[in-house]
Amino acid sequence: MYSEKVMDHFSNPRNMGELENPKGVGTVGNAKCGDIMRIYLDIDEDGIIQDVKFKTFGCGAAIATSSMATELVKGKSVQEAMQVTNKAVMEALDGLPPVKVHCSLLAEEAIHAALWDYAQKNNIVIEGLKEPKKDIHEEHPDA
Ligand code: FES
Repeated sequence: MYSEKVMDHFSNPRNMGELENPKGVGTVGNAKCGDIMRIYLDIDEDGIIQDVKFKTFGCGAAIATSSMATELVKGKSVQEAMQVTNKAVMEALDGLPPVKVHCSLLAEEAIHAALWDYAQKNNIVIEGLKEPKKDIHEEHPDA
């Protein structure tokens, strides 16, 4: 049911933990399943994501998608990080079962929430970024 990559990122998650003085931090949840994901970003003066950590209180797929999402945004510019959609995360994991697609949405939204926090604190605009919701159901009723 799960790809080898999902199992690998679930059993051996990358970038798990927290950053002490993050430039941006974002937390989103899904009221339906009760899962919560938090992403911490360290971003340098050039807008490059130097470090990223996550904490996820959730299902195995949520842990695997957070792990993969952090790998995909590390070393990227904030604008490139906007391209790390839930589809990109799922593709990188060789797919997820349909009932677990919403877990990858949590990863996308948590990254956006952390980027939003960074943008707010630094008074900048990141193209295409909207203020994130705390509960992904408000934006994705089917999730
Ligand atoms: Fe809700 Fe996975 S079951 S995030």
